[in-house]
Amino acid sequence: MIIKTNLEWLYPELLEEAKFFSGTGDIEINHTHSSNFVDEIDICGKKYNYTNYRDFSTLLEEKRYIKRFAKLALYNAMSDYLGQNLPWGALTGIRPVKFAYGEGERWRKEMGDVMRVSPKKLDMVAAIMEQQKPFTDIAENSCDLFIGIPFCPSRCLYCSFMSSEIGKCDNANEYVDALVKEINASKPLIGNLRSVYIGGGTPISLPISQLSRILETVGDVNCEYTVEAGRPDCITDDVLKLLSDHGVTRICVNPQTFKDDTLELLGRKHTVKEIYDKYYLARKYSFDINMDLIAGLPEESFDDFKNSINAAIDLSPENLTVHTLSLKAGSRLKEMVDRLPEGQIDKMIDYSYDRLTESGYFPYYMYRQKYMAGNLENTGYTKAGKACVYNVDVMEEIADNLACGANAVSKKLFSGGERIERYGAPKDISTYISKIDKVIEEKNKLFSSK
Ligand SMILES: C[S@@+](CC[C@H](N)C(=O)[O-])C[C@H]1O[C@@H](n2cnc3c(N)ncnc32)[C@H](O)[C@@H]1O
Ligand code: SF4
Repeated sequence: MIIKTNLEWLYPELLEEAKFFSGTGDIEINHTHSSNFVDEIDICGKKYNYTNYRDFSTLLEEKRYIKRFAKLALYNAMSDYLGQNLPWGALTGIRPVKFAYGEGERWRKEMGDVMRVSPKKLDMVAAIMEQQKPFTDIAENSCDLFIGIPFCPSRCLYCSFMSSEIGKCDNANEYVDALVKEINASKPLIGNLRSVYIGGGTPISLPISQLSRILETVGDVNCEYTVEAGRPDCITDDVLKLLSDHGVTRICVNPQTFKDDTLELLGRKHTVKEIYDKYYLARKYSFDINMDLIAGLPEESFDDFKNSINAAIDLSPENLTVHTLSLKAGSRLKEMVDRLPEGQIDKMIDYSYDRLTESGYFPYYMYRQKYMAGNLENTGYTKAGKACVYNVDVMEEIADNLACGANAVSKKLFSGGERIERYGAPKDISTYISKIDKVIEEKNKLFSSK
């Protein structure tokens, strides 16, 4: 079987070095299956053998398996050539924990011995699976409701999420009109509702009257209800009261860092003092609070990051999410920032894991992205019993996702999740507004299919 693929997709972090295999990054993998359990992979004329201890029942399964071993062969060759190992070894893909579930009892062997994932990351995966136990046995027809607000008070330098500066948009009100229509149309599609998540962008950058319309449309919710309030500069007592009056149970107050110079450089438009002020203001209500931090921010040393982790732990939020800076194409920082000295980012991520787990936090979900510094991961930590159901459902793809808004991707699971179908709404805000009836029709079609 011959498979054509591209090294950039496999190893964006190592692309330059990996080009010794192929000048363009395009590679052709030729796989020869043999019955004596040793198969051969030929990658651009270099031959590698691997032990095949599995039988394939379908062509798709065979293709998947070969791709996995092609990655491994590439990884081994590059690792020897460069004298370097990566924490996640040859494992690519955004959901390492879902990969582990898919391997059943043999997940440790498959990830550790075969894909060369480090023992520390394996322990992390095991700890996450343990935390997820209460969530994975779920009722049929379970779903989460996501509502996307693609507006922010200003753009942060590092951010490659789709969102527009609200002050420069003249269609925020029309956006809310379309969104309200979509939420109302989605209500009959809701089965067993596990959580509601209003995310962004920065949902609370909307005028309070428009935010209130959305919350009214969602109505009474008897499950976890998150609003990714996010930017401390948008948090006011009026907004917090509005969220609390509508039954919101969880909000985010995101520092990203506890260093004023970095906040200024990133264009966050708030200070460290404001993080504290708004956190204490939010504590007057009964919300669970999540805080986001980023490792590898420009001009930050290990000590700066260490200080941010420690400051966040001292505040004792229910959840803490540690991101690794990912400089995607399109991010303004990409051109500006040099990567950290080798090993620094691994040290930061290791520190966050060690310090948080010593301080009563448990890792409970994790995902990886392309272009992440050090090829690492984003990890959500929680205090005991405070894990966010929405994050687990989305990462492990264990419930349907009814997603409303521009660029929102709805997912419907079939045969207990063996097959997933998606519908992505238009990314562009004006297109979303003008196509709202079509969006509703497509979603109805997806959720009524068997
Ligand atoms: C959808 S954003 C919304 C957060 C909210 N608007 C705020 O700024 O506080 C969710 C989180 O993604 C993380 N994030 C955004 N861009 C990132 C990047 N390029 N690399 C790593 N993390 C990033 C940030 O920690 C951010 O809080
Ligand atoms: S980090 Fe948050 S506030 Fe900043 S641009 Fe991204 S979504 Fe908007």
